[in-house]
Amino acid sequence: MTQRVAILISGSGSNMVSLVKAMRAADFDANPVVVLSNNPDATGLQKAKALGVATEVVDHREYKGDRAAFDAKMHDVLCSYEPDIICLAGFMRILTPKFVDNWSGKMLNIHPALLPKYKGLDTHQRALDAGDTVAGCSVHIVTAELDAGSVIGQTEVPILDGDTAETLAARVIEQEHKLYPSALKDFITR
Ligand code: GAR
Repeated sequence: MTQRVAILISGSGSNMVSLVKAMRAADFDANPVVVLSNNPDATGLQKAKALGVATEVVDHREYKGDRAAFDAKMHDVLCSYEPDIICLAGFMRILTPKFVDNWSGKMLNIHPALLPKYKGLDTHQRALDAGDTVAGCSVHIVTAELDAGSVIGQTEVPILDGDTAETLAARVIEQEHKLYPSALKDFITR
């Protein structure tokens, strides 16, 4: 059965674009049903519209720190699209355990580090500061603990002399765009 996929973004949505394009290619039994953002100014929303995907905004600022109410609204909006799978793609809000429980085993995230290393933010700078020689990206199943669920796909990239967080991020995100569609496909056909 074709899987209905919701994608959550907060910013530029480049991973969302790679997911949508991959799902629309042949031999991918999934369909993007909605792109939801917590940020009304996320440039990814325009990209989703241009790709003909429905968009929704649940602006976290309107909930003034009430994460439970924000997540409950997101849950309701998402349910109206009847997704089978949720892909977090640069979604920069921490989700409540209740929200995660509601989609247990059905929610994926892409993280710009070789998990379990460098959970959270500033992954590239932390890898550089540690003197690492490799960096990369991971796709994992979302659990209530941040960036801690089972890793279902990972790609390494070299760290090169003279790298900055920006040059490293550019090398990693190129791989993210390949990894996320392939991990989603594996997840669907598992
Ligand atoms: C990506 O590098 C993604 O891995 C990262 O944010 C970027 C979003 O870019 N996600 C996280 O750091 C999650 N903690 P995009 O909006 O262009 O896909």
